[in-house]
Amino acid sequence: MMKIGRDLATENLVKGQSVYGERLVRKRGKEFRVWEAKRSKVGAALQKGMKIPFKDDAKILYLGVASGTTASHISDLTPKGMIFGVDPAPRVLRDFLLLSETRSNLVPIFADANRPEKYRHIVPDVDMIIQDVAQPNQSQILMKNVNMYLKKGGLAFVAIKSRSIDVTANPNKIFSEFKHAVKGLELIQEKRLEPFEKDHMALLLKK
Ligand SMILES: C[S@@+](CC[C@H](N)C(=O)[O-])C[C@H]1O[C@@H](n2cnc3c(N)ncnc32)[C@H](O)[C@@H]1O
Repeated sequence: MMKIGRDLATENLVKGQSVYGERLVRKRGKEFRVWEAKRSKVGAALQKGMKIPFKDDAKILYLGVASGTTASHISDLTPKGMIFGVDPAPRVLRDFLLLSETRSNLVPIFADANRPEKYRHIVPDVDMIIQDVAQPNQSQILMKNVNMYLKKGGLAFVAIKSRSIDVTANPNKIFSEFKHAVKGLELIQEKRLEPFEKDHMALLLKK
């Protein structure tokens, strides 16, 4: 990962491929994809200074992978790893399936993350869970998957959108309730995602 101007960028694993219309930039003989922070909550958290260690051989369970905008950058960062992307929405998962045909470290899983036992036959124990599901019960979804898949010492990145949990409540109240609900995990870092996303918070937690 490197900085190009104000943006972060990842070295492109698939030369010439732009996944979601992001700019490709050549630097020192290598090709990089600009990571648009307004299109990716992990990208926004990194821009806000969160330090997320991505090991190049990490196994990652991604809940709410959608069409793979963010997962594509994580794919660049983990060339020897594997990203298991879960989503129950057929339209977006179809796009992720097409993306996975071009990148061997992506595995699409058509499933609901409320039922983690449904993908036990595909997903091994993982080093990291990323969750971006924008659901009212997302703390329960996270804990079920952490309990079933995350290795001890593993990390969980969570994006919380307060309006998806309660439209009327004060975002700070939602964020502190979320932290309370996952208090079995150690809170490593937290960042508000403004100006990239309004009323969002990202947490990095450790098991
Ligand atoms: C904000 S989008 C994710 C964007 C994606 N993380 C990215 O940055 O490229 C939220 C996604 O969560 C998915 N989702 C909602 N409920 C879910 C559940 N129970 N299990 C897994 N995914 C879910 C939605 O289908 C949607 O694709």
